[in-house]
This record gives sequence, C-alpha cells and structure tokens, in this order.
Amino acid sequence: MKTLKIGENDRIPALGLGTWKSKEGELYKAITEAIEIGYRHFDCAAIYGNEAEVGRALRHAINEGRVKRDQLWITSKLWNSMHKPEDVRPALQKTLDDLQLESLDLYLIHWPVALKPSLGNGFPTGSDDFLSLREVPLSATWAAMETCVDAGLAKHIGVSNFSIKKIDDLLQTARVKPAMNQVEMHPFLQQGTLVEHCHKHGIQLTAYSPLGSNDRPDRLKKDDDPNLRDNPKIKILEKKHDYTWAQIALAWAIQRDTAVIPKSVNKDRLQQNYDAADIELDDDDMAKISMLDRHFRYINGDTWAQQGTDYTLENLWDE
Ligand SMILES: NC(=O)c1ccc[n+]([C@@H]2O[C@H](COP(=O)([O-])OP(=O)(O)OC[C@H]3O[C@@H](n4cnc5c(N)ncnc54)[C@H](OP(=O)(O)O)[C@@H]3O)[C@@H](O)[C@H]2O)c1
Repeated sequence: MKTLKIGENDRIPALGLGTWKSKEGELYKAITEAIEIGYRHFDCAAIYGNEAEVGRALRHAINEGRVKRDQLWITSKLWNSMHKPEDVRPALQKTLDDLQLESLDLYLIHWPVALKPSLGNGFPTGSDDFLSLREVPLSATWAAMETCVDAGLAKHIGVSNFSIKKIDDLLQTARVKPAMNQVEMHPFLQQGTLVEHCHKHGIQLTAYSPLGSNDRPDRLKKDDDPNLRDNPKIKILEKKHDYTWAQIALAWAIQRDTAVIPKSVNKDRLQQNYDAADIELDDDDMAKISMLDRHFRYINGDTWAQQGTDYTLENLWDE
C-alpha cells in the first residue's frame, strides 16, 4: 500500500476505509473483513454515531493477533458542538473510549462551523443552535487541539472542509501545523488549487466522498446530480483497462498524492477498492479525467448556511 508522508516523520496509508453511514451490525463485519483484506487506515468521526462499534471490531482484531495497534492508522473528528476550548479534550476522550484506544493517529476539526454544546452529537434544527466564529474562533479550537497533542492523545491534528483562506488564517497562529485537510474530492471536484496550496505548506489531503457518496441522505440529493458510474469518459477507461469506475476514481486520487477513504460495507467492494491502490493510470487517462472537473459538491454545505446565522455558502467555502 502506498503511504504519504505526514507530519515530520510519519506515514499515512493512502487508502483507508470510510465509516459514515455504515450501520450498526454491518460495520463490525466490514472492519473485520477490511483488516483481513489489508486495510490499515480507518476514518471515523463522533458524529457518525458508530465509533463504539468500530472500537469493538478493532479491539477484537488486535486481541486475536490479526493486527497490531501500531500497524493501524485511526482518524477521528471533533464535532461542531465541541469547538469551545474546554470541550475539545473531553470530546476526544469520549472518542478514544468508544474506539478503545489510548491515542489517535489523527484528530481533525470536522467543519469550520461552531454549534452550541447543548446540541450534543447532533445537527442543528434552527439558527439558535449555532455559535458564530467570532464567539468561538477556529484559532481557539485549534489551540485546544494542540494541547491534545501535548497530552499524547493524538499524534497528529488537522482540519476538514477548510478553504485556502481558513488554512492560511490558521497557519498565522498555529503552534502545531495542521498535518491534514480532509475535503470532498473526486473527478467532478478536483480542488487543484487547494491541493497545490496545502502541499506547498506540507499539509496532506484526504479525499472524502471519492465515489460520489451515493448513499448520502436524501436531503443532500438532487435529480440532476452527476454520477461517475454513468460518465462516458469513465466508461471508456473502464473498457480500456478492465477496471471498474470506482477503481478508476480511487486510483486517480492516489496518483495525485492524496489519501482517499471510500466507504463500503460489502466484502467484494472492499476488496475492489483496496486493489485500486495498486492501479496505475497513464498520462492520457489522467488528462482525460482532469477534463471532468466541474467544481461540483455532493456535500454542498447547505446544512450550515442557515438564515439568521453568520454562515453562508460563500464564507463557508470562501468562494
Ligand atoms: N470530513 C467530512 O466532512 C466528510 C464528509 C463525508 C464523508 N467523509 C468520510 O469519507 C468517507 C467516504 O465518503 P462517503 O461515505 O460520503 O461516500 P463514498 O465513499 O464516495 O461512497 C460510498 C457509497 O459508494 C458505494 N460503494 C463503495 N465502493 C463501491 C464500489 N467499488 N462500486 C460501487 N459502489 C461502491 C457504497 O456502498 P456499499 O457500502 O454498499 O459498498 C456507498 O453507497 C465517509 O464514509 C467518511 O468516512 C468525511
């Protein structure tokens, strides 16, 4: 498995398993099968509501001697309602307890959006649930993330859904540089400028929803959303190489030196996705895929851009 340099002298496996939407019951099996296949990188988050199940599966695999803790790369994310500095460490501790781990490899600020702590592990239902970034600045949340590194609870810290502007703002005050920016990325949303900027600053990127997140909630779906599976250019590449559309999308992400975290709970698709890490696309394939960019987001941030709050799509993405 290809790895990417992260932080001063660490390496993250380029392909990992996403766990958003993986349901109770099916996730334990998926993690167990994934470890058998060879997956070592797992992407988790408190808001996915399934970290305890991930923890049980990991613990079982470790206890059975199928994998060692230090062979695993475990990422999790701070939920938006825990941005107040005093809430960060307890949130991480809850995640560690659920995952049955002493420390994380990577802990990310999930979104540059702050919600009231009273919301708990939930989504806002109205503008009253929000805190502005003037009340809880990202720099203050970040300083609390840094103390988690000092305390040995997270090896690396990073961000998710951060724009170039927000990365630059953070770099102004950060004592510990963000190691990662996890963002939506796939052939329809290639984020070339962001990738270049992060790499220039030694920040790695992870591509989320790399297959188009077909199982995303209905509220995030529109009839005319593009899909990779039916794209004629991708179909030509499928025929040329005898790879599936999903494998082409994953190989593309890895070949751009980004990490990628497809979600699956199906054994055949877990294997297929894992195998994509060894696929080499040629220059002509990469050029064809680069032409598919249309800056299209499946997770467009609507959830946060609510009337009566400071948050808009413009200031969320800084576009
Ligand atoms: N930081 C963030 O804000 C953020 C946001 C979104 C996602 N994420 C992370 O990124 C991960 C991946 O993104 P995602 O879950 O949104 O979507 P995704 O990985 O793009 O797509 C998942 C969907 O693709 C299907 N699938 C998987 N492999 C396939 C294959 N080889 N062929 C055909 N279909 C396949 C899955 O079904 P089966 O399970 O039935 O195979 C599922 O319906 C998440 O799970 C989460 O860990 C992070």
